[in-house]
Amino acid sequence: MTGDRGKERRVQEAVRRHGRERAFAEAEHVISALLADPQVQQAGAQVEAAETELGTEVIRHANASDWPGVASIDSIAASGDDARRASIRRWCEQGLVLLAEDASGPLGYSVLEYTFFEQGFITMVMIAPTARRQGVGARLLKATEAACTSPKLFTSTNVSNHPMQLLLQRVGWSPVGLLYGLDEGDPELFYLCPGAQPRGLVEAEG
Ligand SMILES: CC(C)(COP(=O)(O)OP(=O)(O)OC[C@H]1O[C@@H](n2cnc3c(N)ncnc32)[C@H](O)[C@@H]1OP(=O)(O)O)[C@@H](O)C(=O)NCCC(=O)NCCS
Repeated sequence: MTGDRGKERRVQEAVRRHGRERAFAEAEHVISALLADPQVQQAGAQVEAAETELGTEVIRHANASDWPGVASIDSIAASGDDARRASIRRWCEQGLVLLAEDASGPLGYSVLEYTFFEQGFITMVMIAPTARRQGVGARLLKATEAACTSPKLFTSTNVSNHPMQLLLQRVGWSPVGLLYGLDEGDPELFYLCPGAQPRGLVEAEG
């Protein structure tokens, strides 16, 4: 009797094992057929592309330890300018830097200060030369605007800096004044963020 029960159990286990293996083989077959379907492949590629786009670039506040990475994408600092390297270190230590980065490392940074008549002022926007014309500058400006805690946000650039002016125009900033005497022969053009309204305009409308 004991021998019969043992044999029965072994047969039952063999049947179960066979059933499991068959089910796995069928599932594998169905999965392979699904993955080979061109529509499924296309959907997979689209999901992957969206994940790459959404998942890789982040904009965050830099901390003190980020300064060498930030300096590595700043063309002035990378050319050996010690004053720029020192500024980057101080900006990072003071928590003034917004850093855009992806899996490859830093892509660009902005510096937001409140030393200009106690209003927000973007002292610097710099995008790694290899990451330019990919929208990083525009996204950094938007993130800096969102981070700004004062009613107005300004920035400035040399009249000769056409890429920066084109970027500012593209994101809707308004030119609000020209300052002579800072860089000889290359005046500084000031811009105001569209989120803010010049007082004169508000008063004129009111
Ligand atoms: C100016 C600078 C920040 C632009 O950053 P960026 O990431 O390349 O800019 P974006 O890709 O977000 O550009 C957005 C739009 O701005 C305009 N633009 C930016 N750079 C341009 C250029 N070199 N030529 C023409 N248009 C330009 C375009 O309209 C662009 O849109 P498009 O690419 O769809 O045509 C970048 O060139 C840089 O780091 N320069 C050196 C540092 C500097 O001069 N900083 C400013 C003074 S603090």
